[in-house]
Amino acid sequence: MEIIAVHGGLDTSRDRQFMEVLEEAAQQGYKLLATDRVQAMEAVIRVLEDSPKFNCGYGSILNLDGEVEMDAAIVDGVTNRFAAIAAIRLVNNPISVARRLMEKTEQVIVAGDGAVKFARQQGFPEANCVSEEQLDAWQKAKESLARGETPTQNLFTGLEYHADTVGCVVWDGKGLGAASSTGGFSLKMPGRVGDTPCLGGGIFASPTSATVCTGVGEAFIETLTAKYVDEQIVSGLHPQQAVEFALRRLADLKGTEGGILTMDAEGRIGSAFNAGRFPVVFLVNGKVQKDFKPVNLKPELTLN
Ligand code: GLY
Repeated sequence: MEIIAVHGGLDTSRDRQFMEVLEEAAQQGYKLLATDRVQAMEAVIRVLEDSPKFNCGYGSILNLDGEVEMDAAIVDGVTNRFAAIAAIRLVNNPISVARRLMEKTEQVIVAGDGAVKFARQQGFPEANCVSEEQLDAWQKAKESLARGETPTQNLFTGLEYHADTVGCVVWDGKGLGAASSTGGFSLKMPGRVGDTPCLGGGIFASPTSATVCTGVGEAFIETLTAKYVDEQIVSGLHPQQAVEFALRRLADLKGTEGGILTMDAEGRIGSAFNAGRFPVVFLVNGKVQKDFKPVNLKPELTLN
């Protein structure tokens, strides 16, 4: 059996245009899953990075200085290989740079100027990641700040639609993997790094489970939430129970919202959130599971 589950980020729209891109991403990954688990994960995330709708790659939110700085990571539960890129600028596909780091080096995280330099050495061309829509949102947010007001835009986009980190988990019949990519949050400090490239914080994979998280990264890092999900599954919990426990723990410890997607080595999925939306596409042997829905632990917050 081959399984891919992909999410579009906490509070990201579930409108058809968004769900279609998520489905396309899952299908691109499925084409490669039988031959190369890591390449399949890269393919899923690249589709989302290339779409301006999601907060990753082109169309990422802007930091305080008006720049896009992105984090991405990939982890293979079979080989225990992990690679991450943090606060990278001016590349189209941070996830591909992360995969290259995994395959060409023994180092596991590169950040900032070093990440850009590595990308160029590996032949990734300079690319603009700033969309007009995000630039406009950033200018409005900066004007609010200049007036002494708190910007009213969504933390993760500053736009009328919402978007956060994207991620996927895969099972190819032999093992599990997880991959994730993000622009972080609006007006973040230049150089700020979130949970996406932090193994055990916002992403984890082992022979037992693969997990990706979305929400305010600092909370996921400080609570090692992705690792906690794995520990719950190792101790015998169903993945669904594990993610619900983890989100309740995150809310108790940090008072924050999040979304978590996990899968275990039996191909059982767990997905939950405690916010407005959490779009997830679940693909089994190439077929979208249309009835599948993540559980909202705070249904009173549900948005259309
Ligand atoms: N979850 C995205 C971030 O905080 O960077």
